[in-house]
Amino acid sequence: MSASEPGPAVDGTIAAGTNPDITSILVENRRFPPPKAFAAAAHLGQPETVEELRQRAALDPVGYWCDVAKTDVRWSKPFTQGLDWSDAPHARWFADGELNISDNCLDRHCETWRRHKAALIWEGEPIGANGPEIRTLTYQQLLVQVQKFAAVLRSLGVQAGDRVCLYLPMIPEAAIAMLACARIGAVHSVVFGGFSAEALRDRTLDAGAKVIVTADAGYRRGALLRLKDVVDEALTRNGGAACVQHVVVVQRAGCEVQWQAGRDAWWHECMAAAPAGMPPTALPAEHPLFILYTSGTTGKPKGILHTTGGYLTHTTRTARWVFDLRDDDLFWCTADVGWVTGHSYVVYGPLSNGATVLMYEGGPAFPDKDRFWDIVQRHRVTVFYTAPTALRTFMAWGDAPILKHDLSSLRLLGTVGEPINPAAWVWYRSVIGGDRCPIVDTWWQTETGGILIAPLPGVQTCVPGTATLPLPGIAADVVDNQGKSLPADVGGLLVIRQPWPGMARTIWGDRERFAQTYYGRIAGMYVTGDGARRDADGNFWILGRVDDVLNVAGHRIGTMEVESALVSHPHVAEAAVVGRPDALTGQAIVAFVTPMLGVQTSPALAEVLRSHVASEIGGLARPAEIRFATALPKTRSGKIMRRLLRELATAGQVTGDVTTLEDFGVIEKLRATDED
Ligand code: PRX
Repeated sequence: MSASEPGPAVDGTIAAGTNPDITSILVENRRFPPPKAFAAAAHLGQPETVEELRQRAALDPVGYWCDVAKTDVRWSKPFTQGLDWSDAPHARWFADGELNISDNCLDRHCETWRRHKAALIWEGEPIGANGPEIRTLTYQQLLVQVQKFAAVLRSLGVQAGDRVCLYLPMIPEAAIAMLACARIGAVHSVVFGGFSAEALRDRTLDAGAKVIVTADAGYRRGALLRLKDVVDEALTRNGGAACVQHVVVVQRAGCEVQWQAGRDAWWHECMAAAPAGMPPTALPAEHPLFILYTSGTTGKPKGILHTTGGYLTHTTRTARWVFDLRDDDLFWCTADVGWVTGHSYVVYGPLSNGATVLMYEGGPAFPDKDRFWDIVQRHRVTVFYTAPTALRTFMAWGDAPILKHDLSSLRLLGTVGEPINPAAWVWYRSVIGGDRCPIVDTWWQTETGGILIAPLPGVQTCVPGTATLPLPGIAADVVDNQGKSLPADVGGLLVIRQPWPGMARTIWGDRERFAQTYYGRIAGMYVTGDGARRDADGNFWILGRVDDVLNVAGHRIGTMEVESALVSHPHVAEAAVVGRPDALTGQAIVAFVTPMLGVQTSPALAEVLRSHVASEIGGLARPAEIRFATALPKTRSGKIMRRLLRELATAGQVTGDVTTLEDFGVIEKLRATDED
C-alpha cells in the first residue's frame, strides 16, 4: 500500500503535480510454470538464454531491434540506420532501408515449401445443408489474389501514398485488400463493419480516401449487415465525401444493392479483368502502411498512423515469440480486422511468419452458444487468442456448450484488450485449456502496434491477472507524475521510456495532438494512459485506465481490482465499477453487476456481494451500491464504457457521446433498472 499523499478526488483523474499512486489491494498467489513438454518444444524454452537476451536488449535496445529487423524481415535494400529520434516524439526506424510487407507476408513463403501451405482458412457464419462455407487459400493462392487486387487498385488510379478505406465483413477479401494496398504502397484505413454511416464518413474524410472497398453485406449473429447501403449513405449525407472516386463491392451475400454507374464496381468483375503477377513495390521503411481510427475519450477519433519496416519487425517477432508459432499450428485470433489486433495478429504478424491463420466471419452464439468450440474442434485449432469480455460471456453461458466439444488440439491460449480478472483467467485455463495450456495475457494498444508486455510461454511462470514482463527491448516502467520510477507494489502511471519499432508515428494530420496526447505529460516518455503496479517479481499488473481510477477516502483504487473481486463470486458474470461523488469519502463505489444466467437478483444478493468484495480485498473497496443489469454498455470492440456508467451513477442519465456504443438498448435497460 502506498505511504505517500494521494491526489484529490477530481473526477477520478490525477491532478497535475499530485502523486498518481494507486492503492493496490488484490493479492494473487497462484502460479503456473510452463508445462515441461511445452517448454521443450518452444521457440524459447531456456530461461537462462532468455535472461541473457533481456539483459542485452536492456543495455542496447536499438541494437537489439536492429538484429530482429535483420533476421525476421526481408529487405530489398538493407538499412544502415537504427532509430532516428531527432524529430521526437515522431520516431523513424531503419529509415534508409527498403522493403515491401506483402513481399514479406507472401512472396518469400512462395519461394519455399510453404507455397502450398494454407495461409488462410476461413469459415462463414451461415450454416447450410452441407455445413458452413469454408474457403482455404494457400500462400500461392493468396499471393495471386493480392497481385490481382493490387492491379485493380492501380487501374482505379491508386498510387503509393493514396488512402483506401476498407469497410468489409470478416471475409478473406479484407486480408487480400490490406495486403494489396501494402503491395503498391497505398495506405489502408480499415473501418469496422459495425460502424454507422456517420462514423464511416468522418473517417473517410479525415483520411481523404480515394477508394472504398466494401461488400454488399456480411453475416453477423444470424442477420445481414448491409454494408453497401451504409457506404451509399456515408457518401451522400451531410455533403458526403467528395474525395471518394470509386467503390469496389465484394458480392458476399448476393442481396440487392443500389448502384452508381461510374463510381461503383464489382470486385469479381474487376478481378476477372485484372492482369496477374503485379510485383511488390520496394518502399522506404518509413512509408505509411495504415491509419486506424481509435476513439479518444473525447472528441474526434484519432487516426493512428503506422509505417512499414518497424511495424513489420515488431509484429513478426512478437507473433512468433508470444504465440510460439510453429509451422504445424492453426492460429485463431478472434478479433475483427477492424481493430488493431486484427491487423497485427490476424494478418501481418502470423502471415509474415508463414503461419496458418483461421478467420471466422460471425458471432460466437450463432446458431448456438458453442460455435467457437465447434470451430476449434472441427479445424483442430492449436493457438487461440481472444478478449476477456468474450471469456466472461462464455463463463456466464455455463460450461455445457464447451464440454460438448473436444478441445484437445489447443496448446496455447491468449487474451488482449482489457485486464483479465484472475477468476476468468483460471476458468479459461481449466475449462477451455484443460489445465494444459499456458495463457499469454498480452498488454498493448492501437498506438503500440504490437504486444509490449506478455509472458514468453516456454520460459515464464504465468500468474492469473498479470501480463507479466515487458518483452525484450521494451522499456516499460511504473512512474509518478514527474516520471520517477515507483517501487514494487505502488500503483502509478504505466509508461514506456524508450522508442520501439512498432510505435505509432503520429496522428494522421495532427502531429501536435500526437505529441500532446502521448508525450505531453512527462518529458521524453510515452504515457500509455493506463495505471499499473509492479510486484516484487517485476510483473506488471494493469489497474485500468487512469481516467477511471476511483478515489475513496483518499485512496486511489483501480477499477480492475474491485471488478475482479466481484467476478470471483460464483453468481457474477461481469461487473463494472465507477465512482460517484460522496460528501464523506470523496467518492463512493457504485458497482454494475451482470449475474450469471439463471441467478435471481435480490437486495440480499447485493449485500452478499458487498461483503464479498470487503472480504476479498478490504473494506475500503466495499461498493456503496450494487446495481444489477442484464448487460453493460460496451464499445464495439468489447470495452466497458465506464464513462457512461459514471454519468448514470452520478446524474441518472447519459448525455455524452455514445457513437462508439455497441448496443444502444443497454443504456435504456440500465436506466430502467435504476427506476425499479
Ligand atoms: O487499457 C489497456 C487495455 O486496452 C487499451 C488499448 O486498447 P486498444 O487501443 O483498443 O487496443 C486493444 C488491443 C491491443 C490499453 O490501454 N488493454 C489491452 N490489453 C490489455 C489491456 N489491459 C489489461 N491487460 C491487457 N492485456
